[in-house]
Amino acid sequence: MVDTQEIEVIRAAKSKISEVDFDNLPFGKVFSDHMLLATYENGNWSRGSIRPYGDISVSPAMSSIHYGQSIFEGLKAFKSESNDVLIFRPEQNWERINKSAARLCMPSIPKELFLDGMKQLVDLDRNWVPTDNDCSLYIRPFMFATDPFLGVKPSDSYTFMIITSPVGPYYSKPLHLKVETEYTRAALGGVGFAKAAGNYAAAMLPAKIAQDQGVDQLIWTDAKEHRFIEEAGTMNMMMVIGDTLYTAPLTSTILPGVTRDSFLTLARDAGINIKEESVSTDMLIESIENNSLKEVFGVGTAATTAQVQKLTFKGKTYDLPAVESRTISNSIGGLLLDIKTGKATDNKGWNTKL
Ligand code: COI
Repeated sequence: MVDTQEIEVIRAAKSKISEVDFDNLPFGKVFSDHMLLATYENGNWSRGSIRPYGDISVSPAMSSIHYGQSIFEGLKAFKSESNDVLIFRPEQNWERINKSAARLCMPSIPKELFLDGMKQLVDLDRNWVPTDNDCSLYIRPFMFATDPFLGVKPSDSYTFMIITSPVGPYYSKPLHLKVETEYTRAALGGVGFAKAAGNYAAAMLPAKIAQDQGVDQLIWTDAKEHRFIEEAGTMNMMMVIGDTLYTAPLTSTILPGVTRDSFLTLARDAGINIKEESVSTDMLIESIENNSLKEVFGVGTAATTAQVQKLTFKGKTYDLPAVESRTISNSIGGLLLDIKTGKATDNKGWNTKL
């Protein structure tokens, strides 16, 4: 059980859980019974409050609506075979949201509010954590500016919330990605490394154009030359060329994914060669043509390990090696999932057990 000193708890009169079909969970459409909310005013955070999930009322002049001071996180809780609830690396998300906050001129969120509040919320709704292997409770902490003011300046007031959603897989099949060479997700010196809401808004039009052309998502390239591979959709992208695992280095345009870090840590432990280096589109295409490209996949909290089966570059579509043949993504991705669900030993201390 979690210490309940600080946070006020108002329980829902009636749980909605019996209305949920846990055998057919979509991603992000079903919300559990409770949410956490805290406000920031005059330089201080209020005591957090856990209350029934529901709508909130905001000013139409609220500055985050107009100017985008809005950030979020995503992490998951799993149910182990012994019925423990395991939250995967929540401190990492606390650290990252505060880096996003600093970049967007927003206040830091205290560790107790973020972590203890989350633990208490998830514990209260622990029956909502799915047991099925492909499923989990997606935890969405977020913060937005609330000053009712149309001047462009950092807000003085903010709201921090956590909502949770039992989810099934984000992608149901291997992906077809197109290398984007016109639009840009992030530029050096911008906010690409932050989990800023606006990054996702800016990606929607190019993704929609690609989807209208029949592909699932985009491979983002650098803003200057569109020559170097950055991310894939909302995930970090990984490639195995020869016997080396490549992923883009963490610059100001790359989201420092918790899944990225976990994957690289396990791959390093397994003795796999890793290069955190920019891969050019030329190198990628050449590696397809000379058969040295073994695997392409995305890693992210929502998507976990998402295999890429087809890749389109400059109008030409390439078929990639069969998913079953991909030793690194299958073994490391499988081990990561086993650690999260308590099937493999968590010798890194990554899981927070409730
Ligand atoms: C996550 O993996 O948590 C993401 O950020 C993807 C999300 C926008 C659905």
